[in-house]
Amino acid sequence: MSNDGVNAGRRRFLVAATSVVGAAGAVGAAVPFVGSWFPSAKAKAAGAPVKVNIAKVEPGQQMVAEWRGQPVFIVRRTAEILANLKKIESDLSDPTSKASEQPAYVDPQVRSIKPEILILVGLCTHLGCSPTFRPEVAPVDLGPKWVGGYFCPCHGSHYDMAGRVYKSQPAPLNLPVPPHAYESDDIIVIGVDQENA
Ligand code: FES
Repeated sequence: MSNDGVNAGRRRFLVAATSVVGAAGAVGAAVPFVGSWFPSAKAKAAGAPVKVNIAKVEPGQQMVAEWRGQPVFIVRRTAEILANLKKIESDLSDPTSKASEQPAYVDPQVRSIKPEILILVGLCTHLGCSPTFRPEVAPVDLGPKWVGGYFCPCHGSHYDMAGRVYKSQPAPLNLPVPPHAYESDDIIVIGVDQENA
Protein backbone atom coordinates (compact mmCIF):
# COMPACT_ATOMS: atom_id res chain seq x y z
CA MET A 1 0.00 0.00 0.00
CA SER A 2 1.41 3.42 -0.87
CA ASN A 3 2.03 6.22 1.57
CA ASP A 4 -0.83 8.06 -0.06
CA GLY A 5 -3.13 5.20 0.70
CA VAL A 6 -2.15 4.70 4.28
CA ASN A 7 -2.17 8.39 5.08
CA ALA A 8 -5.61 8.76 3.65
CA GLY A 9 -7.25 7.55 6.85
CA ARG A 10 -5.80 10.39 8.85
CA ARG A 11 -6.68 12.96 6.22
CA ARG A 12 -10.21 11.67 6.08
CA PHE A 13 -10.51 11.96 9.82
CA LEU A 14 -9.33 15.52 9.76
CA VAL A 15 -11.82 16.35 7.03
CA ALA A 16 -14.60 14.61 8.93
CA ALA A 17 -13.73 16.39 12.15
CA THR A 18 -13.78 19.81 10.58
CA SER A 19 -16.78 19.50 8.28
CA VAL A 20 -19.03 17.15 10.25
CA VAL A 21 -19.10 14.64 7.45
CA GLY A 22 -20.04 12.00 10.01
CA ALA A 23 -20.34 8.47 8.65
CA ALA A 24 -18.96 9.47 5.28
CA GLY A 25 -15.65 10.18 7.01
CA ALA A 26 -14.95 6.46 7.06
CA VAL A 27 -14.86 6.00 3.30
CA GLY A 28 -12.59 6.99 0.47
CA ALA A 29 -10.85 5.91 -2.68
CA ALA A 30 -7.84 4.26 -1.06
CA VAL A 31 -9.78 1.78 1.08
CA PRO A 32 -12.95 -0.15 0.35
CA PHE A 33 -16.25 1.42 1.20
CA VAL A 34 -17.09 0.71 4.81
CA GLY A 35 -20.55 1.57 5.92
CA SER A 36 -21.08 2.93 9.40
CA TRP A 37 -23.82 4.94 10.95
CA PHE A 38 -24.05 7.38 13.78
CA PRO A 39 -26.58 8.82 16.21
CA SER A 40 -27.44 12.53 16.21
CA ALA A 41 -24.74 15.11 16.79
CA LYS A 42 -26.18 15.78 20.24
CA ALA A 43 -26.06 12.10 21.17
CA LYS A 44 -22.53 11.79 19.79
CA ALA A 45 -21.38 14.71 21.88
CA ALA A 46 -22.73 12.94 24.94
CA GLY A 47 -20.64 9.89 24.09
CA ALA A 48 -23.28 7.60 22.63
CA PRO A 49 -22.05 4.23 21.36
CA VAL A 50 -21.33 4.00 17.64
CA LYS A 51 -22.10 0.99 15.45
CA VAL A 52 -19.63 0.16 12.71
CA ASN A 53 -19.96 -2.39 9.91
CA ILE A 54 -16.54 -3.96 9.31
CA ALA A 55 -17.60 -6.43 6.63
CA LYS A 56 -15.65 -4.75 3.86
CA VAL A 57 -12.37 -4.31 5.69
CA GLU A 58 -10.01 -6.64 3.84
CA PRO A 59 -7.20 -8.58 5.61
CA GLY A 60 -4.30 -6.23 6.27
CA GLN A 61 -6.43 -3.09 5.84
CA GLN A 62 -7.63 -0.42 8.22
CA MET A 63 -10.79 1.67 8.37
CA VAL A 64 -11.24 4.75 10.54
CA ALA A 65 -14.48 5.33 12.43
CA GLU A 66 -15.30 8.14 14.84
CA TRP A 67 -16.39 7.91 18.47
CA ARG A 68 -16.67 10.80 20.91
CA GLY A 69 -14.97 13.00 18.36
CA GLN A 70 -11.94 10.72 18.26
CA PRO A 71 -10.68 8.56 15.38
CA VAL A 72 -11.02 4.84 16.03
CA PHE A 73 -8.74 2.57 14.02
CA ILE A 74 -10.15 -0.82 13.03
CA VAL A 75 -7.75 -3.29 11.41
CA ARG A 76 -8.34 -6.80 10.12
CA ARG A 77 -5.04 -8.47 10.99
CA THR A 78 -3.59 -11.37 9.03
CA ALA A 79 -1.92 -14.49 10.47
CA GLU A 80 1.43 -12.98 9.46
CA ILE A 81 0.72 -9.75 11.33
CA LEU A 82 -0.27 -11.70 14.44
CA ALA A 83 2.87 -13.84 14.23
CA ASN A 84 5.04 -10.72 13.97
CA LEU A 85 3.57 -9.30 17.19
CA LYS A 86 5.37 -12.00 19.18
CA LYS A 87 8.73 -11.42 17.52
CA ILE A 88 9.11 -7.81 18.67
CA GLU A 89 7.93 -8.00 22.26
CA SER A 90 11.41 -7.41 23.72
CA ASP A 91 11.50 -4.07 21.84
CA LEU A 92 8.27 -2.79 23.41
CA SER A 93 7.77 -0.58 26.43
CA ASP A 94 4.59 -2.21 27.78
CA PRO A 95 4.12 -5.48 25.85
CA THR A 96 1.41 -6.83 28.15
CA SER A 97 -0.33 -3.46 28.52
CA LYS A 98 0.01 -3.40 32.31
CA ALA A 99 0.12 0.40 32.41
CA SER A 100 -1.96 1.06 29.30
CA GLU A 101 -5.65 1.63 28.86
CA GLN A 102 -7.79 -1.24 27.64
CA PRO A 103 -10.87 -3.15 28.82
CA ALA A 104 -10.33 -6.23 30.99
CA TYR A 105 -11.96 -8.50 28.40
CA VAL A 106 -9.31 -7.65 25.81
CA ASP A 107 -6.25 -9.90 25.50
CA PRO A 108 -3.38 -7.81 26.96
CA GLN A 109 -0.87 -8.78 24.27
CA VAL A 110 -2.78 -8.88 20.97
CA ARG A 111 -5.11 -6.28 22.53
CA SER A 112 -8.37 -7.43 21.02
CA ILE A 113 -11.39 -9.65 21.65
CA LYS A 114 -10.92 -11.56 18.39
CA PRO A 115 -7.23 -11.83 17.46
CA GLU A 116 -7.78 -10.70 13.88
CA ILE A 117 -9.81 -7.56 14.65
CA LEU A 118 -7.86 -4.72 16.26
CA ILE A 119 -9.72 -1.66 17.56
CA LEU A 120 -7.79 1.35 18.89
CA VAL A 121 -8.40 4.96 19.79
CA GLY A 122 -6.26 6.62 17.13
CA LEU A 123 -4.63 9.32 19.26
CA CYS A 124 -0.97 9.21 20.21
CA THR A 125 -0.39 8.92 23.96
CA HIS A 126 2.29 11.60 23.75
CA LEU A 127 0.44 14.77 22.73
CA GLY A 128 -2.58 13.42 20.91
CA CYS A 129 -1.71 13.47 17.20
CA SER A 130 -3.28 10.77 15.08
CA PRO A 131 -0.66 8.13 14.15
CA THR A 132 -0.32 6.94 10.57
CA PHE A 133 -1.10 3.33 9.64
CA ARG A 134 2.10 1.78 8.28
CA PRO A 135 1.39 -1.93 7.71
CA GLU A 136 4.23 -2.55 5.27
CA VAL A 137 7.30 -4.57 6.31
CA ALA A 138 10.73 -2.88 6.19
CA PRO A 139 9.85 0.34 4.33
CA VAL A 140 12.88 2.51 3.60
CA ASP A 141 11.92 5.28 6.02
CA LEU A 142 11.18 3.00 8.99
CA GLY A 143 14.05 0.57 8.54
CA PRO A 144 14.63 -3.16 8.06
CA LYS A 145 13.29 -4.19 11.49
CA TRP A 146 9.87 -2.61 10.94
CA VAL A 147 7.16 -5.29 10.75
CA GLY A 148 4.19 -2.96 10.42
CA GLY A 149 2.46 -0.72 12.90
CA TYR A 150 1.74 2.96 13.49
CA PHE A 151 4.03 5.94 13.13
CA CYS A 152 3.17 9.25 14.78
CA PRO A 153 4.14 12.08 12.41
CA CYS A 154 4.34 14.71 15.17
CA HIS A 155 7.34 13.51 17.18
CA GLY A 156 8.05 10.08 15.70
CA SER A 157 6.58 7.59 18.17
CA HIS A 158 6.46 4.02 16.88
CA TYR A 159 3.71 1.54 17.75
CA ASP A 160 3.25 -2.06 16.62
CA MET A 161 0.20 -3.64 14.97
CA ALA A 162 -1.43 -4.01 18.38
CA GLY A 163 -0.95 -0.31 19.16
CA ARG A 164 1.85 -1.13 21.62
CA VAL A 165 4.51 1.55 21.86
CA TYR A 166 8.16 0.72 21.32
CA LYS A 167 10.79 1.50 23.96
CA SER A 168 12.40 4.95 24.13
CA GLN A 169 9.65 6.82 22.31
CA PRO A 170 8.10 10.19 23.18
CA ALA A 171 4.80 8.36 23.74
CA PRO A 172 4.68 6.76 27.22
CA LEU A 173 1.87 4.22 26.72
CA ASN A 174 0.17 1.97 24.20
CA LEU A 175 -2.70 3.36 22.14
CA PRO A 176 -5.91 2.92 24.17
CA VAL A 177 -8.40 0.19 23.30
CA PRO A 178 -11.93 1.61 23.60
CA PRO A 179 -14.78 -0.35 25.18
CA HIS A 180 -16.42 -2.32 22.40
CA ALA A 181 -18.67 -5.28 21.74
CA TYR A 182 -19.71 -7.51 18.86
CA GLU A 183 -23.35 -7.30 17.87
CA SER A 184 -22.60 -9.82 15.09
CA ASP A 185 -19.51 -10.93 13.17
CA ASP A 186 -19.66 -7.75 11.08
CA ILE A 187 -21.18 -5.20 13.46
CA ILE A 188 -19.06 -3.71 16.22
CA VAL A 189 -20.45 -1.33 18.81
CA ILE A 190 -17.85 1.10 20.08
CA GLY A 191 -18.52 2.57 23.50
CA VAL A 192 -20.31 -0.46 24.96
CA ASP A 193 -18.58 -3.17 26.96
CA GLN A 194 -18.72 -6.71 25.66
CA GLU A 195 -20.40 -8.07 28.77
CA ASN A 196 -23.19 -5.46 28.49
CA ALA A 197 -23.86 -5.92 24.79
S1 FES B 1 2.11 13.37 19.59
FE1 FES B 1 2.78 11.45 18.82
S2 FES B 1 4.88 11.48 19.19
FE2 FES B 1 4.20 13.36 20.00
